[in-house]
Amino acid sequence: MRKLTVLLCVVIMALWALPAFAGSAPGTGIVDSQHDMNNVSIADSQGRVCAFCHTPHHALDDASADYLPLWSHQMTTQTFTPYSSDTLDANVTDPLAGPSRLCMSCHDGAIAVDQHYGLAGSDLRTGDSWGGIAVGAGGDLTNDHPIGFDYTAVASVDDEIRPETTPTTNPNIPTIADLLLDGTTMTCSSCHDVHNTDSNDNYFLVNLQDGSQICLTCHDK
Ligand code: HEC
Ligand code: HEC
Ligand code: HEC
Ligand code: HEC
Repeated sequence: MRKLTVLLCVVIMALWALPAFAGSAPGTGIVDSQHDMNNVSIADSQGRVCAFCHTPHHALDDASADYLPLWSHQMTTQTFTPYSSDTLDANVTDPLAGPSRLCMSCHDGAIAVDQHYGLAGSDLRTGDSWGGIAVGAGGDLTNDHPIGFDYTAVASVDDEIRPETTPTTNPNIPTIADLLLDGTTMTCSSCHDVHNTDSNDNYFLVNLQDGSQICLTCHDK
């Protein structure tokens, strides 16, 4: 009897938990995901989801950004130092080229993640260590995977970097070129799918962690 009660409790708890996680599974969209600020931060007064990043009117007009898809979140003001190493072929021009600068609206550890629509937010995420979501806090991208360079130029000189025409093992993403800004530039969105639509693993990843398929998408190792 006791076992049955415990079992029932587990089943009920599992069912009760289901709706809360709907949409948070890889590839199931942004609503209720970790990029739905209503889910993870201080909710919007009208329950809007897109509004934390986009607006139909009065969008941000910031000269420092080369890509602003109707942006409604304050832009980072930090200067970023890119990754470098003796074996790197990549020539990093602007570490925050394209969507990467947009990610830094929230992941720079300096702007509140619930800031939107000109409303001041208060939920600051400053931790740039395991479990923290600030990436490149204080403008330091030196300990992060390189971004902001021409992938195709690297692939043409480095035979351990797959050509951009190589198919990926994620059925939603035909080739590596689909992960690059304008088919050339490597950005945060080369590994993460911000809207959780084409991702097939946790962390909005565009490929599986298992067997490091995500890394083998581009690296021939
Ligand atoms: C957490 C921030 C965030 C939220 C919330 C968000 N977006 Fe985006 N969106 C981005 C970023 C960053 C880009 C830049 C392109 C990229 O990185 O894929 C983008 C690009 C876009 C684009 C242009 C490129 C494309 O993929 O077609 C559209 C359209 C768009 N978003 C629509 C939406 C809609 C509709 C919603 C709500 C249902 C939404 N977004 C919610 C961050 C967000
Ligand atoms: C509106 C603010 C905002 C923007 C813009 C934004 N993020 Fe996030 N992101 C967050 C917050 C907040 C979390 C943590 C949610 C939580 O508490 O679990 C997060 C979590 C993540 C995670 C971890 C998800 C997990 O499963 O733990 C990844 C990866 C990520 N973001 C990548 C990106 C990338 C890449 C971009 C740009 C293309 C971006 N984010 C743009 C606010 C944002
Ligand atoms: C080369 C692939 C790659 C690129 C480029 C990349 N990431 Fe990630 N990121 C990952 C992987 C893989 C994880 C999952 C955690 C792990 O395996 O360490 C991750 C985890 C994260 C997390 C969760 C961190 C945590 O400790 O919970 C955030 C937030 C994040 N990335 C944001 C970004 C942002 C912002 C950018 C661009 C500045 C970016 N990523 C660029 C591969 C990448
Ligand atoms: C979208 C393609 C892509 C993905 C996915 C990717 N990388 Fe990379 N990575 C590159 C490119 C291109 C370079 C630059 C190589 C160069 O310049 O020599 C690079 C650079 C690196 C470097 C630095 C090399 C150096 O010489 O300093 C390491 C280490 C690395 N990646 C590991 C990883 C790991 C681990 C993963 C998975 C978590 C991963 N990469 C995922 C494309 C990718």
